[in-house]
Amino acid sequence: MHAPKQRLGLKHFKKGGTPIACLTAYTAPIAKLLDPHVDLLLVGDSLGMVVYGFDDTLSVTLEMMIAHGAAVVRTSRHAFVAVDMPYGSYEKSPEQALASAKRIMIETGCGAVKLEGGAEMAPAIRRIAENGIPVIGHIGLMPQHVKEMGGFKIQGRDDAQAEKLKRDAIAVAEAGAAMIVIEGTVEPVARMLTQAVSVPTIGIGASAGCDGQILVIDDILGTFAAFQPRFAKRYAELAPLISQAAESYAEEVRARRFPAP
Ligand code: KIV
Repeated sequence: MHAPKQRLGLKHFKKGGTPIACLTAYTAPIAKLLDPHVDLLLVGDSLGMVVYGFDDTLSVTLEMMIAHGAAVVRTSRHAFVAVDMPYGSYEKSPEQALASAKRIMIETGCGAVKLEGGAEMAPAIRRIAENGIPVIGHIGLMPQHVKEMGGFKIQGRDDAQAEKLKRDAIAVAEAGAAMIVIEGTVEPVARMLTQAVSVPTIGIGASAGCDGQILVIDDILGTFAAFQPRFAKRYAELAPLISQAAESYAEEVRARRFPAP
């Protein structure tokens, strides 16, 4: 008999080498389908937009993240699972951050939490990491800061912004982050940030200059019609298929062709 396959641990994630393949997942059936193929499943707070229909991620609660995180952990076996810390659950103090991180870890069974922020979040990252909870940083375009950033805009376009991003990346890594998501920046900056830190970087809209890539699952499946980021490649167009299936079903019910005798 074969021993059951072990879930990937943090040790799997290395700089250089084969790029790390990550996707978001929010629900049990999708997590089960993605799990064998990727290294990391992120229960991202992007679920606020793609699952709950909010305009941004700011209304997502800790309870929502825990419910979806637990579903993804329950139905996956192979991929490392990380869960986003939602807006308002960690910014007040390192103590608040640690308390929220502990709830996420205990109530979902995930492998790491992720939070947005640069140098200003280093004390919170340090507090969580020192308590044995793996933390993933997230710098560059930070959707929880979309209002102060004036929209979903590319970061690091000028030298001053790029220098700030470098300070952020180094501060986050030195505070104990196990990996860093870099969102929405240009290739030379992504490469510079990746070289500046000793932990793996995961890019989204941040070029091939990172150690791995992550995309929102609905963007690659073509199920989220409200918005299509330019950097996201569509690997399937499921929206018309779903719509056709619903139309055919409704037609058959109305014509008494379904259910069959
Ligand atoms: O919330 C999310 O899905 C994310 C990824 C896009 C990195 O943070």
